[in-house]
Amino acid sequence: ARKCVLSGLWKNELGSNMTISAVNTDGGFTGLYHTAVTATDKHIRVSPLKGSQKPTNQRKQPTFGFTVSWTFSNSMTVFVGQCFMDDKGKETLKTMWLLREEVSSPGADWKATRVGTNIFTRIK
Ligand code: BTN
Repeated sequence: ARKCVLSGLWKNELGSNMTISAVNTDGGFTGLYHTAVTATDKHIRVSPLKGSQKPTNQRKQPTFGFTVSWTFSNSMTVFVGQCFMDDKGKETLKTMWLLREEVSSPGADWKATRVGTNIFTRIK
């Protein structure tokens, strides 16, 4: 089977886009995330992401994680997932995410974290 490669341009089912740079020899990568939606009333801006995949390019269907530091809100999102290659050569990223917002007191902690899934496909 061919390798699933993380670097490139991806789109998810919400219409969000991200660009992932080349993965370095330690498995590290950076990129840019353009979300289509927001939990805030702020104006959406492209935000940086930073992550890593399992070291080296040996893995055919690598697991990975990355953090998006939103430039337009006080929140962070962490994604974790796996890059899959189907038998037609189509790549998908199956992910789960946690979105943490800043709340004013520990009493509001219970409502500060959202969870969800996203599936990304490569934009050619
Ligand atoms: C915010 O609303 O504070 C920042 C934007 C959060 C966008 C979330 S992250 C998980 C989900 N997947 C996306 O592509 N966008 C939303």
